[in-house]
Amino acid sequence: MSSSETKPNVIVIGAGGVGVIAALSLFYCNKSEVSLVVRSDYDHVTNEGYKILSCDYGEYENWKPHHLYKDVHHAIEEDPNRFYEYVIVTTKNIPDGPVGSRVPTIIKPIMENQLVQHPDKKTNILLIQNGIEIESDVLATFDKSKYNYNMLSGIQIIGSTKIGIGIINQQGHEHLSVGSFNASDIDAIKAAEKFVGLYLNEGLNSIEFDERVRYSRWKKLLYNAAINTTTALVGLDVPRTLEFAKNKKSTEMEIYKPAMQEIVNIAAAEGIILDEQFIEFFTNITRNIMFKPSMCVDVQKHQLMELEVILGNPIKLAEKYNVETPILKMLYNLLILVQCKLKEEKGLIKFDETTARLADS
Ligand SMILES: *[C@@H]1O[C@H](CO)[C@@H](O)[C@H](O)[C@H]1NC(C)=O
Ligand SMILES: *[C@@H]1O[C@H](CO)[C@@H](O)[C@H](O)[C@H]1NC(C)=O
Ligand SMILES: *[C@@H]1O[C@H](CO)[C@@H](O)[C@H](O)[C@H]1NC(C)=O
Repeated sequence: MSSSETKPNVIVIGAGGVGVIAALSLFYCNKSEVSLVVRSDYDHVTNEGYKILSCDYGEYENWKPHHLYKDVHHAIEEDPNRFYEYVIVTTKNIPDGPVGSRVPTIIKPIMENQLVQHPDKKTNILLIQNGIEIESDVLATFDKSKYNYNMLSGIQIIGSTKIGIGIINQQGHEHLSVGSFNASDIDAIKAAEKFVGLYLNEGLNSIEFDERVRYSRWKKLLYNAAINTTTALVGLDVPRTLEFAKNKKSTEMEIYKPAMQEIVNIAAAEGIILDEQFIEFFTNITRNIMFKPSMCVDVQKHQLMELEVILGNPIKLAEKYNVETPILKMLYNLLILVQCKLKEEKGLIKFDETTARLADS
């Protein structure tokens, strides 16, 4: 048996700054066979590989994982019998985006193929994505009584960006926390723990098993829901939003802090206690770092934002628990308009000016 037959197969779907470094970490660790789905840069990367400038791994020219594919259909055609033990999704999570870009649609061909080819093997779906309740769409699409899978959560902290065709610049040390969305699912917990071993490159990257996924996601949301959203609305980096404020105070006191408090309150209604110190902690650290959150960058690049998983889902939960969220709702309602402006530019929605109404799609 060749070594490739003994190593588990892992497929990483989404080749932006997060996905390529995830594939590199797995490849470097050398305990799995790594496939990467590269949509837009496929031809370039097939010919020349990636150029990677990484603070964790150094510089690479012409780097390729074991396999490169245009999309998941391509991966299945090339080797229909290969079983992917881990299916890692690192694309942006935009449930209100085009159907073809939604997570259940993206993974469906693999789920169907594995069900037919390997009905007894359990697939681990790992979502390395932002937001809350991102597992729900997958669970609703793939009935667990039919499909055999675990749902794993990944929260990655990394300053990594695709800066050109086939070029990745990683400036911040990678830290990944992986756990089971369902804290009492033993199988999923074991799969998450195993993944840590496939991924850890001691002294280079860091990865840890996360036993409190929901807590970690709410904690990250404190920042995302208040600060990323505001920067996206106004098109400013974080320090400017603080310094340009009335008396240099209004953004912090009347937007960031109350919005974060609302997140703390929604989480509390779910029984998750976030230390209120985090609110001040997050505002403090952001004040001194020149930084433009990805949501703001998305708008500036005319790309759709991860609005639903960052604000839509928390607000739905707030409504369920009767938690008041006036600030978050205002941010959300304004950002819906921005999102629709982006959709209109992309032709995803149409506005009929002769009737002054949104045209039915
Ligand atoms: C979580 O996992 C446990 C153990 O497998 C299972 O009994 C329970 O139904 C799961 N909860 C949800 C919400 O799926
Ligand atoms: C935040 O910064 C203020 C002013 O510098 C300081 O007094 C406070 O202790 C800091 N809080 C935290 C949680 O870091
Ligand atoms: C929000 O900003 C943080 C810091 O840049 C980033 O890690 C996260 O991915 C951003 N989230 C969204 C939804 O833009």
